[in-house]
This record gives sequence, structure tokens and C-alpha cells, in this order.
Amino acid sequence: MPQDSSPSSTAFSRRHFARLLAGGAAAALAPVGLGRARAAERPWLRLAQAAGRRDETYWQQVREQFVMPLDLAVLNAANLCPSSTPVLDTLYEATRDVDRDPSQQNRRKLSEGKEAARRTVAAFLGAAPEEVVLTRNTSEANNIVSSGLTLGAGDEVVIFGDNHPSNHRAWTDKAERFGFTVRIVDQVNPHPGGEYYLDAFTRASNARTRLWAFTHVTNSVGDLFPVKEMCDAARARGILTLVDGAQTFGVLDLDLTALGADFYTGSGHKWPCGPRETGVLYVRKDAQARLQPSIISLYAGTIGISRTLEAYGQRDEPAILAFAKALEFQSNVGKAAIAARSRALAEALMEGLSQIDGVKLWTHPDADRSWSVVSFQPAGLDPNKLSAALYETDRIAGATRGGQDRPGLRFSPHFYNLQSEVDRAVAAVAKYVKSGL
Ligand SMILES: Cc1ncc(COP(=O)(O)O)c(C=O)c1O
Repeated sequence: MPQDSSPSSTAFSRRHFARLLAGGAAAALAPVGLGRARAAERPWLRLAQAAGRRDETYWQQVREQFVMPLDLAVLNAANLCPSSTPVLDTLYEATRDVDRDPSQQNRRKLSEGKEAARRTVAAFLGAAPEEVVLTRNTSEANNIVSSGLTLGAGDEVVIFGDNHPSNHRAWTDKAERFGFTVRIVDQVNPHPGGEYYLDAFTRASNARTRLWAFTHVTNSVGDLFPVKEMCDAARARGILTLVDGAQTFGVLDLDLTALGADFYTGSGHKWPCGPRETGVLYVRKDAQARLQPSIISLYAGTIGISRTLEAYGQRDEPAILAFAKALEFQSNVGKAAIAARSRALAEALMEGLSQIDGVKLWTHPDADRSWSVVSFQPAGLDPNKLSAALYETDRIAGATRGGQDRPGLRFSPHFYNLQSEVDRAVAAVAKYVKSGL
């Protein structure tokens, strides 16, 4: 049947699509059926279609749910993600409602809204609502753990050397203050494989080790950790685990109960595409008695660990409601489809970049060692100047890594990115590597 591409029909289908993503059933989203020839040429696209049965037309419609101008390719999900229109609408309407009538009577419903959001976050993560603390970001969640455990002289903690400062300096500073010892497992590049890190953490541990703190996917070069194997191994030795999920929450299809971490952290404003200053700390039921609150105030949550760890005083409840909306939006697209799509785009990037003379990939290309964070050294080019040229001339936004340690650029594609944006990014890097800046 020929497709009707008249403007009114397109406008209708866009509205229809937006309604589906805002609250409709995922099952109602049928594949559109274009782009098969392209997929045959590009093996990585098969990955996305295998899991999500979506084609480029579908993803273009997803892209249109975001307010980023269509000529701007933002390949920087690892840093900050945009919110979709349904999330912005929820945030605005709930904020306006509070400002129209800030009475306690009118705001009472927000406490229930916060608990409903907790249930949504829990379901999204394969956790129980009693295990969820709604934080402001991953930094706060990581620090609730490092400040909340009772550790002192004679205790040891093993951390990964390439953790984010909120899970690295937080430990080394608190070790100095409280007298416990931190052992560091160094990062090895290229990623030597999950077994290597499992073995290195095990060898760094002894009878005094209380916790392993590592990152599910690193923000530097996207190293993926074997979380389940490491959590199982730690548990068998009576050691707790803190897993930083800032680069996985909202992009990998997570089941925290199955993964087995005692503590798992993430930000709503990264891959989940929620509002700024939303985040999560998961605390497994049998680890809850180990954490003491570092902030004590009013307005705690009403169930489980949130009753003790979430008494932060006044909160921005509209942001929390919009955070839940962002997770509903992702559930409607499909968590497995999002994981496969972002991975397919990352593989396309790695494939394209590795064909440019002089470009060195810091990210391991195998799917058991990386996911959707791609870092590379752009031949002899200055990463800062290249990043500026890409943004100003080519309308492509990534992130820069300066210094001597794996310097270069990072692209982190997500489900709102298009294959054409990845192609543009590869072509622009190739142009500058060939002709200079
Ligand atoms: C692995 C990791 N952990 C923690 C954070 C901190 O996230 P936030 O700034 O949202 O607290 C980041 C931020 O990039 C990160 O990549």
C-alpha cells in the first residue's frame, strides 16, 4: 500500500506517535517497515532491529519528541541528556500547579506523587520500592554510601582506579578522615576482559575488606564491568558492592535484583532523559541495616529505606514526577530496543572511526567490554580545537578528554540520535584528520 505522505497525515501520525510515547502501550508501536536495504549494508543496524524491530523512520519519530533542533547532533549522553516533550510538559505543569497554589493543602498530593514515582523507578530497575531512595544525582547517591557505612581503622575498601571522583576521591578522602584503607585496582587499556578485573579485585581483598566500589560502564572510555559475576564473588566473601550506574541507568535494560549489587546508583538527567537534579540510590534489602543517614531532616519517603535515607527537607517534587514520566517514555519505546539502538549507533561510530588513518580507539569494540560510550584519540589533532570545530562548524556536540591519560574525544549516542548523525560525525572527524583544523 502506498504511504500517504501529505502534511496533514504526517502531522496526524506525529501527534499519534507522541501520544503513544507519552502514555500508550508499547505493543501499539508497530515497525514502520522502511530501511531494510540499509540494514543489509550495515551489519550493526541488524542489532537494533533484532531487539527492537524498529527502523530509522521509527527513530526519527522518537527524535522529534525532543526539542533539540534537527541540525544539531548531540552525541553526549554520558554527560547530560535532553528531556522529551512529554517530560518537559509534566515538569512545567506540575511546577505551575505549585506556583499557582503553594499551600500545603494543594501540595499534599505531591507526596503521593513522589511515592508513585518511587514505584515507577523501582519497576524500571527490577527493584522493590522499599529499596529505592530518590536522590539528586549519582554523586549524592555514591556519597550516601561512602558516608553512611561505619568504617574505621582495620577496615578496607577496594575501588576501581577509573571510577568517577564521586566514587574515587569520595573514598580516598573519607579513608583519611575515618582511618580505613583504600586499595585501588588500576584501569588497563585496552579493556583486558571481565575476568581480569574479577581476579584483580579478588586478589586485592582479604578478611578486612568490607566493600568493592566500581563502575558499570566508565565515563572515560566506556569500559563495561561484569557486574553480576563481581557482585556474586564479593557476596561469597561477605563483601558489599557499590556499583556506579551513571552510564548504564536509562540505556542498559537493568534488573537490579538479578544483578546482585548491594548499592547501585544513577542520575535521572543522564541516559533516562529526566530533569536535572534527579537520581537514584538502590539499597538491597539485606544491606539496608548497614547504612546510616548523613542528612537528617524532614519529609522522608514513606516506605523502606527512604524513611531513613531520604529525609532531605523540601524537594522539587515536580522534577521527581517528570523523572517518572521519563522512565514511562523509555518503557513505551522499550528498554531492550533502547539498549540495542544505542549499541548499534556506538558500533557504527567505532567502525567508522577505526577506518580513519591515525585515529586510535580507546574503547574496546566488543559488546562484553563496552556499550554506548566511545572514546578515541583523533590522530595528532588537539581534542579541544577539534571539539570546538565540530560544534561550531559541523553542529556536532561531543565531549573532550584533555591531559595525558587517554586524551581525545568522546561520543556517546543514545536512542534519540540518528544514523545520519553518526555518519556526519565520522565524516567530519575524517575531514579534519585529513585536512587539519
Ligand atoms: C560514572 C559516573 N559516576 C558519577 C557521575 C556523576 O553524575 P552526576 O553529576 O549526575 O552526579 C558521572 C557523571 O558523568 C559518571 O559518569
